[in-house]
Amino acid sequence: MRLILLGAPGAGKGTQATFICQKYGIPQISTGDMLRAAVKAGTPLGLQADAVMKAGALVSDELIINLVKERIAQPDCAKGFLFDGFPRTIPQADAMKAAGVKLDYVLEIDVPFEAIIERMSGRRSHPASGRTYHVKFNPPKVEGKDDVTGEDLIQREDDKEETVKKRLQVYSDQTRPLVDYYSNWAKSEPSLAPKYRAISGTGSVEEITARALEALSS
Ligand code: AP5
Ligand code: ZN
Repeated sequence: MRLILLGAPGAGKGTQATFICQKYGIPQISTGDMLRAAVKAGTPLGLQADAVMKAGALVSDELIINLVKERIAQPDCAKGFLFDGFPRTIPQADAMKAAGVKLDYVLEIDVPFEAIIERMSGRRSHPASGRTYHVKFNPPKVEGKDDVTGEDLIQREDDKEETVKKRLQVYSDQTRPLVDYYSNWAKSEPSLAPKYRAISGTGSVEEITARALEALSS
């Protein structure tokens, strides 16, 4: 299974990716998680990405495309993979097409922007694993600690209200056009293009997982 999870910041891509990847036994490729790891490690990529991410803008297509191409060449991707937060621009989508990367599904998770602000302000993350919680909607078993490792949870630097607003604007301008890109491609070249499925991302985490798994089997 090779799929793209498409959706606004805070739509629940990372949350649902965990369950989908478990079900299909595939790795989660989150460009956001990879960039945050690079920032933490102080690599040249991290140094370039840090300020851009803090401002809620997008890292350059060239850097991201190279990062993803290297990642999907690794042996654990032979069985498939899930893209979370990638592609995020038309040039990124075009680069996958040009490289002949065949995809089975594009799954869009749709959540109204009003709900997103509340989700982001309560989000807590475990950076090492990418696991995500919410203080109210999806709390960890022990406050402030990761369920699996017991390590501290953090609040992401780009989850400040100002930055969230900027990220939603960037989504509308640069990523939302991928909805038409993939849904039109699925209509015009159904044998080549990934199947396009859209689900509502409003409801409990479990409800949305059930919707996602059903959409991916149809
Ligand atoms: P990235 O890490 O990809 O962030 P994002 O797309 O903005 O998405 P988020 O991780 O914020 O949200 P999510 O959809 O994963 O939601 P989550 O499951 O956590 O990117 C960060 C930055 O990196 C970008 O701004 C950019 O600078 C750079 N970058 C990354 N990829 C790039 C690319 N391809 N090109 C260029 N630049 C790139 O859920 C959110 C919260 O809601 C959590 O607290 C969760 O517990 C809660 N929640 C989840 N589901 C529910 C539910 N059903 N009900 C209630 N609460 C819920
Ligand atoms: Zn995420």
